[in-house]
Amino acid sequence: MSDISLFEAMRTQRSIRRYASDPVPDELIATIIEAATHAPSATNRQPWHFLIIRDRELKRRMGEWYVDAWSSIYPNVDPSTLPQSSRSGLELGRGMVDVPALVLVCLDISEERPTTPSLIHGASIYPVVQNIMLAARALGLGTVLTTIHRKHEQEIKKLLRIPASVETVALIPLGYPAEGERFGGGKRKPVDEVTSYDRWGQRAP
Ligand SMILES: Cc1cc2nc3c(=O)[nH]c(=O)nc-3n(C[C@H](O)[C@H](O)[C@H](O)COP(=O)(O)O)c2cc1C
Repeated sequence: MSDISLFEAMRTQRSIRRYASDPVPDELIATIIEAATHAPSATNRQPWHFLIIRDRELKRRMGEWYVDAWSSIYPNVDPSTLPQSSRSGLELGRGMVDVPALVLVCLDISEERPTTPSLIHGASIYPVVQNIMLAARALGLGTVLTTIHRKHEQEIKKLLRIPASVETVALIPLGYPAEGERFGGGKRKPVDEVTSYDRWGQRAP
């Protein structure tokens, strides 16, 4: 087990889209999920369910849909002209079959009112998603928050037998980073630029 500090995990957790073939032990996945479920949710309903996909055929299908979704975002574009993060999205889809595990985070909206998914529902699920990625980082495992699989939401639900009242909100590949992939170095806006005190736009005294 790693003992990196929370702040180091927060500062170095970033999108990893290429993974080593080393398997991820089930115990580590269980540790990550258990830690993640300490996330907040409205009235503590904990509307989450985690579908861990390890079956090769299922990963292959997810990869195909991922590549299709990616291609519809960048139609007729030469991938080599795109920024690295966009290009590596395509690489992720193509290599998805070989990612050790995919964590499909699901949101059960059956007890939510209204039942149409909204920003407020998202607020009860994305904290657990971030916790998964931080816990994985603490264990030296790479992840990336992805959502474009939702283009194929209905097919995915059918394939994985997900109930109608459940939405898939994030597909998180999980694995040790491939050689050359690094934690940290994510570019972020300066804190001053994104923080105000007492009134919008008012800087710290
Ligand atoms: C709501 C949301 C959806 C995202 N969807 C995708 C996605 O479908 N595919 C992908 O490769 N990355 C996706 N990302 C990851 C972002 O590209 C990434 O967080 C951002 O570029 C910052 O990069 P860094 O994590 O390397 O610092 C998503 C992030 C968020 C918050």
